[in-house]
Amino acid sequence: MISWRKHYKKGLVAIGLLLSTSASIYGQAGDPKNGEKLFKANCTACHALDKQVVGPALKGVVDRLKKDQGLDTDWLHKWIKDNVALRASGDKYANEVFEKHNKTVMQQFPNLSDKDIDDILEYTTNPPAPVTDKAADATKAGADTAQVPASNNTTSNVAIISLLAIAGLLVWILIKLRQLVKLGQSEELSVLNETRVKSFSEIYAKYHYVGKGLLAILAILATYGIWNWIMWIGVYKGYKPEQPIYFSHKIHAGEQKIDCQLCHSSAKYGKVSEIPSMNVCMNCHRTISEYNGKYLEPGKDKAFYDGEIQKIYAATGWDPAKQQYTGKTTPVEWTRIHNMPDFVYFNHSQHVIAGEQAIINSFNKKNPDNKIDVVCKACHGKIDTMNVVQMANDFTMGWCIECHRTTEIDMNNGYNKEYFKNLHEKLKKQYPKDGGKITVDAIGGLECGKCHY
Ligand code: HEC
Ligand code: HEC
Ligand code: HEC
Ligand code: HEC
Ligand code: HEC
Ligand code: HEC
Repeated sequence: MISWRKHYKKGLVAIGLLLSTSASIYGQAGDPKNGEKLFKANCTACHALDKQVVGPALKGVVDRLKKDQGLDTDWLHKWIKDNVALRASGDKYANEVFEKHNKTVMQQFPNLSDKDIDDILEYTTNPPAPVTDKAADATKAGADTAQVPASNNTTSNVAIISLLAIAGLLVWILIKLRQLVKLGQSEELSVLNETRVKSFSEIYAKYHYVGKGLLAILAILATYGIWNWIMWIGVYKGYKPEQPIYFSHKIHAGEQKIDCQLCHSSAKYGKVSEIPSMNVCMNCHRTISEYNGKYLEPGKDKAFYDGEIQKIYAATGWDPAKQQYTGKTTPVEWTRIHNMPDFVYFNHSQHVIAGEQAIINSFNKKNPDNKIDVVCKACHGKIDTMNVVQMANDFTMGWCIECHRTTEIDMNNGYNKEYFKNLHEKLKKQYPKDGGKITVDAIGGLECGKCHY
């Protein structure tokens, strides 16, 4: 079932990509489509087009800098490639914008070519009009981080429509058969017709039990299929696809104790917590070119791990002998594992920032010896013991609700303090059960609109 769905989605994605590429018109300075891909892979962790994320909004940045600062795209190339060097050179605006953003360091992108940067800038200047949400989703699937975010919804709709079509067809055949039988009984028919229809109705009379039996079986199968599909929509617990690079969380997060948020930094700031770009890997793997760890997964040896690390170099175009980038990059297509249907709104920062203390308090009660990365583990399980990531919970609506019902919120966090200043006392009176325990449902955690678009 799962593999069928995955292939199906790949098909949808391919069609989406085909449509979106053929629909776009090139001929500008850069290629905004490629720019969009690069932007999503490298920049969305910290930037959005139209709102401040970690860094400023980048829509129209070329014009803005030209108008406000008199800077041309040359400056932007230098900044994007190596903003640290640009600042060190004493560039006035580079230092100004750095101060303005509380000295948050932007990542360097030495491996982006000039053409890549032109493409990205073209995208920020003329973002392709979002065709439809679905098309945008499919395009996103082409970016190198995710492979299968085509909506469950689309799949579901197609499935429903085809089942309805089959049902419709069956009903139509049944009606036609009955009409024919009725015709056979009417007296106005010509002799010729009579014999023909008669012979048909004879056949029907003989075999209609078989036919009805078949229909009944089909109907039962269809009902069973629909029921199953409704019950299991989007449940992939245990789903663990093979990835293009054998990246082990057990080795990184477990053995090496690397903080989840070093790699999944956007979990803190945004709605999604993306897969790190290859540049993040290179921060460490520029120097770690082989595996010398004591831990070896049964069946794997040092040579295997070394080979996997080499894949990072192949992907980023890093030449370890010459210690420089060749400029030849090949995107790594991680297969996405967790993926809520389109109609669900899930926001990491609501949980990792606003809900952090509440989740830690409640989760630690159940698992007292778990101290590191507690908030992530509450939902994702013991990722730091998994060589291959798999879904640790079933990520269904019931699962979300269960936690919202039982997790006591932290009334002292900034978010709740600000938004529920006046509500606080009222809530306490309204929820006197459990000694005034206020759980997430009290602040709207069970409202349909909070989780559904
Ligand atoms: C790790 C976070 C991070 C990533 C990834 C990142 N940026 Fe930035 N960017 C920043 C921050 C923060 C600033 C604000 C200046 C500062 O603090 O250095 C900034 C500033 C900028 C500016 C100057 C904007 C202005 O208004 O002056 C441009 C242009 C820019 N980034 C482009 C990019 C592009 C293009 C990418 C992707 C290739 C990218 N950034 C990726 C964090 C990031
Ligand atoms: C060194 C970087 C790094 C660290 C540290 C790291 N991850 Fe990951 N994570 C990745 C990469 C790369 C992938 C994509 C490949 C894969 O699925 O294994 C990933 C995938 C995931 C996924 C699945 C994403 C999907 O497709 O749905 C989850 C969940 C996740 N990480 C959670 C965590 C948690 C929790 C921690 C801390 C215990 C953590 N990660 C630490 C790099 C990292
Ligand atoms: C914070 C530093 C750091 C980052 C970031 C990092 N790694 Fe590693 N990586 C390590 C260390 C340390 C080892 C183990 C080396 C040893 O024990 O000799 C390792 C080992 C590996 C190995 C061999 C073991 C295994 O997991 O299969 C692979 C492959 C690997 N890293 C891939 C990646 C990828 C892909 C990324 C980016 C998503 C990444 N690493 C990011 C530090 C890092
Ligand atoms: C309240 C539960 C919850 C917590 C806490 C949580 N996650 Fe997630 N995570 C999810 C859900 C649900 C998804 C699927 C989101 C989607 O498909 O839109 C997800 C998806 C992901 C993904 C896949 C990429 C994406 O954003 O879809 C990564 C990586 C990830 N989480 C990492 C983390 C890390 C790291 C932490 C801790 C800082 C964390 N998560 C904390 C529930 C949680
Ligand atoms: C481990 C427990 C846990 C799980 C699982 C969980 N949540 Fe939450 N959620 C919380 C907590 C705690 C808060 C309250 C944060 C705060 O204090 O504002 C919250 C808040 C929210 C809010 C904001 C509610 C509001 O009124 O501000 C939404 C929306 C939400 N969660 C959606 C989801 C969805 C969708 C899922 C399932 C995919 C999910 N949550 C799973 C613990 C959880
Ligand atoms: C805390 C978040 C949350 C709240 C509140 C919530 N839902 Fe959901 N809902 C989800 C998630 C997550 C899914 C997707 C489950 C999956 O993919 O298996 C879902 C799926 C559904 C589905 C699809 C069928 C299914 O069970 O998968 C329907 C219908 C639905 N929700 C209706 C509602 C209605 C009506 C309400 C208000 C009474 C509501 N939801 C409140 C999170 C929520």
